[in-house]
Amino acid sequence: MKQLLFIALLSLNFVAMAGDVNNNASPQPTIDEKVEKLLRQMTLEEKVGQLNQYDWNAVRSKTRDALLQREIKEGKVGSFLNIDGAKAIKDLQKIAVEQSRLGIPIIFGLDVIHGYKTVFPVPLAEAASWDIEAIEKSARIAAIEASAAGINWTFAPMVDIARDPRWGRIMEGAGEDPYLGSLIAAARVRGFQGANLAQPDTILACAKHYAAYGAAEAGREYNTADMSLIRLWEVYLPPFKAAVDAGVGSVMLGFNELNGIPTSANKYLVTDVLKNKWRFPGFTVSDYGSFSELINHGYAADRAGAAELSINAGGDMDMQSRIYIEYLPGLVRNGRVKEDQINDSVRRILTMKFKLGLFDDPYRYCSEQREKELLLAPDHIKAAREIARKCIVLLKNDGRLLPLKKDIKTIAVIGSLADSKVDILGGWAAQGDREAPVSLLQALKERLGDNTAILYEPGYKQYGYTTDEMIDLAVHAAKQADLTILAIGENGNMSGECASRADIGLPHDQPKLADAIAKLNKPTVVVLMNGRPLTIKAVHDGFPAILETWFLGTQAGPAVTDVLFGDYNPSGKLPVTFPLVLGQVPIYYAQKNTGRPAPPVNPPWGTSKYSDVPNDPLYPFGFGLSYTTFEYSDVNLSADKIKMGQSLQVSTTVKNAGSVAGEEVVQLYIRDLVASVTKPVKELRGFQKISLKPGEAKNVTFTLTTADLAFYDNDMNFKAEPGKFKVFVGADSKAVKEASFYLE
Ligand code: NOJ
Repeated sequence: MKQLLFIALLSLNFVAMAGDVNNNASPQPTIDEKVEKLLRQMTLEEKVGQLNQYDWNAVRSKTRDALLQREIKEGKVGSFLNIDGAKAIKDLQKIAVEQSRLGIPIIFGLDVIHGYKTVFPVPLAEAASWDIEAIEKSARIAAIEASAAGINWTFAPMVDIARDPRWGRIMEGAGEDPYLGSLIAAARVRGFQGANLAQPDTILACAKHYAAYGAAEAGREYNTADMSLIRLWEVYLPPFKAAVDAGVGSVMLGFNELNGIPTSANKYLVTDVLKNKWRFPGFTVSDYGSFSELINHGYAADRAGAAELSINAGGDMDMQSRIYIEYLPGLVRNGRVKEDQINDSVRRILTMKFKLGLFDDPYRYCSEQREKELLLAPDHIKAAREIARKCIVLLKNDGRLLPLKKDIKTIAVIGSLADSKVDILGGWAAQGDREAPVSLLQALKERLGDNTAILYEPGYKQYGYTTDEMIDLAVHAAKQADLTILAIGENGNMSGECASRADIGLPHDQPKLADAIAKLNKPTVVVLMNGRPLTIKAVHDGFPAILETWFLGTQAGPAVTDVLFGDYNPSGKLPVTFPLVLGQVPIYYAQKNTGRPAPPVNPPWGTSKYSDVPNDPLYPFGFGLSYTTFEYSDVNLSADKIKMGQSLQVSTTVKNAGSVAGEEVVQLYIRDLVASVTKPVKELRGFQKISLKPGEAKNVTFTLTTADLAFYDNDMNFKAEPGKFKVFVGADSKAVKEASFYLE
């Protein structure tokens, strides 16, 4: 009773403090009105406080706690990152709500990248599912779990297009293609934010890292990006635009510079494009300390200058660098920054806090009961397995070695990655539970029981280092077995932030181990675990069957065994090209034709080619096999000419010509043959994931509109130009059938 009374008093008090007077006679004020009312009550220091975000892990300490609490009470902390748990967050929120003058709630952010406690496949793996619904569901569950633990804001999705596998963060995005990347960006925003942000199980999403962060030169983390505006708008911006159109509430500004201007102070990108042209209503946040890094970039002379440049470019919230809280009040007073600029940022942040319902109930995300019930809930684990198996890509299956028979007597499992619970979580598992994951070895043991002997040998240590003795033991095990499963690839932390690699081969001594096993010439399945495309030509040649399993999260082991034994027929397709050799990088399917295109076979001197390796990758974008085979009919077009504004139907019939049911990702590409700006040889413009029973055939129809044919011309007008187009339909970006039509 006493507690109820307290809550009632508190909410009355809170409502009054926040200026949210509820008068039955007058209509409910809108969020905009509430924001304005609150803004009018705020001092300049309180406004700047809303723009200030601290990393809890970095700032808290026994000696600092009192100081920190004082800052919260003074309204100087708008947000924290890196604190989670319903109780811990409630305690901090209470200080802000009950002890600061205006009682403005704090927004709590965290990197919930691919799951909270239940870890889903890394985003690059999820992209390989080409299953937009599944990807949305994974983000939805991540939000349900994170919101139950006090979090109301995630720094995801990362929507950076990446075409250089040396860049470790390729793992965190949807791969190389802007069309696929845009659909996935929108799906993940919908998943995190749900239908209504005010629901207690939804969290604010954050599209990052705006912009072109994935175009880091030489694939080196945090490096410079420099490109034409056409490339920026056609390749790197579309997923951000898709996220904005899907209603994303925040956008993170990158660490990188773009065309000479750091993106954390890039007025063109942030104010002109994002806020004005796209009418993004949410707020921007710096990356960790990126506003103060303007000094290192050589763009600002000092911290005050960095604060001025960032806020004036449209940077709303300062993650951890403290330059806003330290310098903005002074910069307003000396006229370097207009208070209106600050007001705009505060408005945006308060609006999102209102939308999240934090003003109605600042503790709505802090139910310890929900936290207990929802983290690692059985249906989340089940979904993690279902989604994980959709992400597996069958790269090779000679002699139909896969799926495995269930009555094998002895299996050798080689590779320490098979026995790891941590690596399968990938490099961004953040708060992911470290006990729940089921390794491949454990899943195999559980599935096979006593009928099959499993001989496990680690074969190598962390990062692929090994000894002759370890290799001998592995070879000995493989010799005794009827079948070998060779788990190789990267440790989880070898991709992700600040995990660029100049050599994207199998790490260290793994090739030596693989070689020793290959020499035995015994049936062997390679299970790859990695967060980026690897150069694996030797493995490709040396083994009959290869499964790309990325880092699949909590249920990696069961998902991989589902595929190994044919309980699930693999349906994943690569969302990124796998180069043959590193020197081909950057390599992506949407290349230009050049003035001297090289024929695929025996390209003569004088064509655009290498003298030592072919132009073709090892596996093209969109590639992935199945345990069945699919036959494609010729491509049918509804017309051979269309007029501007009209649309065209492109159809094909796909037949399951094998003996098991399977799913196929039917892909549609276009090529504009002659244009005022040269166009790539192929551009993805549609796909459908269909399932077919053995012998079944389905008609698949795509609608191409004039907008699908449009591009940015040299004056940055987005429009389609009349002329001849090709359309391609097929199983990947290479295996296609084609037709052509005219746009008049
Ligand atoms: C730096 C990373 O670049 C960004 O993606 C992340 O959200 C922040 N750190 C916060 O952890």
